[in-house]
Amino acid sequence: MVTGASRGIGAALRHALAARGIEVAGTSTSGGDGLLPLDLRDPEAVRTTLTATDAPLDLLVCNAGVFVDRRHDIEDYTAEDWAETLAVNVTGTFLCIAAALPRLEAAGGKVAILSSRMGSSRSGSGGSYAYRASKAASANLAHNLAIDLAPRGIAVGAYHPGWVRTEMGGPGADISPEEAARGLLDRIDALTLQTTGCFQTWDGRDIPY
Ligand SMILES: NC(=O)c1ccc[n+]([C@@H]2O[C@H](COP(=O)([O-])OP(=O)(O)OC[C@H]3O[C@@H](n4cnc5c(N)ncnc54)[C@H](OP(=O)(O)O)[C@@H]3O)[C@@H](O)[C@H]2O)c1
Repeated sequence: MVTGASRGIGAALRHALAARGIEVAGTSTSGGDGLLPLDLRDPEAVRTTLTATDAPLDLLVCNAGVFVDRRHDIEDYTAEDWAETLAVNVTGTFLCIAAALPRLEAAGGKVAILSSRMGSSRSGSGGSYAYRASKAASANLAHNLAIDLAPRGIAVGAYHPGWVRTEMGGPGADISPEEAARGLLDRIDALTLQTTGCFQTWDGRDIPY
């Protein structure tokens, strides 16, 4: 399952997985186009969607995300900006994983969290406080969930997809969604209980938390 599969990196991941002959469920806020409707701000919807079947789940890609504060000055921030960012990028991500645990456990599955290099405290360059904090939190989730889920046979990794030409990344970004998806799937293929807890770029470099 890939969350946020209506466009950008999530759509490219969904198509790349389907091209391998894998049955892939994708989600978007409003659904349609073969996608399940799932608004990550709605905890009940998260639970209902992730538990709609008890079929084993090999892979959950927590890709859906928002970046509402790209150009905010410190004085521009509202409580709503913070609430929206944390609800989607952190709480929604966590609740998806929690709801999917029985299905992941049944498959010996993996969880890939799309964090960002911007979430690394070592590479901070200021600004985008809510987005950076949310991505630091999502990488932190990967690290700590990896510890708790290894005994249950579930590997968890956090990934930076590159700077990608999507609605979020903009037209001047470095790589296409397809290139990002190829690299990410290589990383996810390599994710095991030995490498669980990793935080890596799409092209395989470790990122300091
Ligand atoms: N692009 C980059 O350069 C870059 C760099 C670092 C990290 N990332 C991370 O990579 C992931 C994908 O980024 P992207 O560039 O592909 O973004 P994008 O083009 O903006 O796509 C975001 C996806 O998330 C979904 N989404 C947004 N709000 C949602 C909500 N409340 N509930 C459920 N789904 C929601 C969107 O669905 P709707 O169609 O329903 O809105 C869409 O499918 C994000 O987590 C992002 O932070 C991206």
